[in-house]
Amino acid sequence: QELKMSLEQIEKGGYEHFMLKEIFEQPKSVHDTMRGRLLVDEGVIKMAGIWDHVERFKNANRIIIIACGTSWHAGLIGEYLIEEYARIPVEVEYASEFRYRNPIITDKDVVIAISQSGETADTMAALKLAKEKGAFIYGICNVVDSSIARITDAGSYTHAGPEIGVASTKAFTAQLTILTLIAFKLGKHNGNLGNAEFMSLIAELDAIPKKIEDVLSTTHELTQNIAKDFVKATNFLYLGRGYNYPAALEGALKLKEISYIHAEGYPAAEMKHGPIALIDENMPIVIIAPKKGHYDKIVSNVQEIKARKGKIIAVVNKGDRQVSEMADYVIEIPETSECFSPIVASVPLQLLAYYIAVYRGANVDQPRNLAKSVTVE
Ligand code: G6P
Repeated sequence: QELKMSLEQIEKGGYEHFMLKEIFEQPKSVHDTMRGRLLVDEGVIKMAGIWDHVERFKNANRIIIIACGTSWHAGLIGEYLIEEYARIPVEVEYASEFRYRNPIITDKDVVIAISQSGETADTMAALKLAKEKGAFIYGICNVVDSSIARITDAGSYTHAGPEIGVASTKAFTAQLTILTLIAFKLGKHNGNLGNAEFMSLIAELDAIPKKIEDVLSTTHELTQNIAKDFVKATNFLYLGRGYNYPAALEGALKLKEISYIHAEGYPAAEMKHGPIALIDENMPIVIIAPKKGHYDKIVSNVQEIKARKGKIIAVVNKGDRQVSEMADYVIEIPETSECFSPIVASVPLQLLAYYIAVYRGANVDQPRNLAKSVTVE
């Protein structure tokens, strides 16, 4: 027992929990995901899994992304990325729904499974179904040589390193990094992403680990202070638009998984079709509102919340005025192109969920009723 404890302490590298360690590893894990793939000086993205089958992707009728949990959220952002930059139609489905609804799949489809563990039963079964129907199946996994990695026709590993905390953090940002690389690579190849834009996007991507590092150092203490005020909260809303709508879903999932506070993510504009009825002075609302990406629309959503006295925690870019003036709490993140903002915005939301859970005395690394990989349906 003693030996086990001390080994675990060593593995945690001085952090109180694996989750915190993994949150702080993200500058490195995102960098590791890009290592050997993103060659900025040469203006090249090297990905053998994509390149060897690039015509399959180019001629695909559509790409279907299947996943569960956090990986499904990464898939939703993948849809925005691939549709915007490669102009290939993308659908994203929960693996458990896909496999039982007799989906229409042909040999012109490409099916991408996203799975940290590579062992999720529903994702595995959905892939097998797609394979039987002749689709080309591609895996985005973190665990090397996992079951999903082995049955796919091709794939890319995220190389985020082992993730021990049940709530996924660094695997998520690594998945976003891979999806970004795929979208840019396909877009460049099929001519939808011009060279100048490609070059500037990859230079920006290359600098994302540094921005994650910055955001970790500027928001670590701040998120602890904010967390203290919400230890007794019973509900939370997370709102975002565009690329940050799935980031809002993921922020809410993190909080509910580890703190057991009920939290819902919503596309900000959908608020008026339901959640707005819940807003009063007791409702904390996290709103992701970076400058690039529907900012003006978000401003009006924030005004609606303010009028109903909701407690606003705003994730904005440095120097923001309009949203910040209305917010009760302001979390600043560095400015990026819209497509990278979920990576940077997710980091303080992970920290916020983490500290709220810690202050509630929850077991953040092993939340009740949850498993790291769900190998049964
Ligand atoms: C479980 C984990 C989540 C994970 C999901 C999908 O629910 O607790 O963190 O997102 O499974 O797992 P996968 O390994 O397929 O990404």
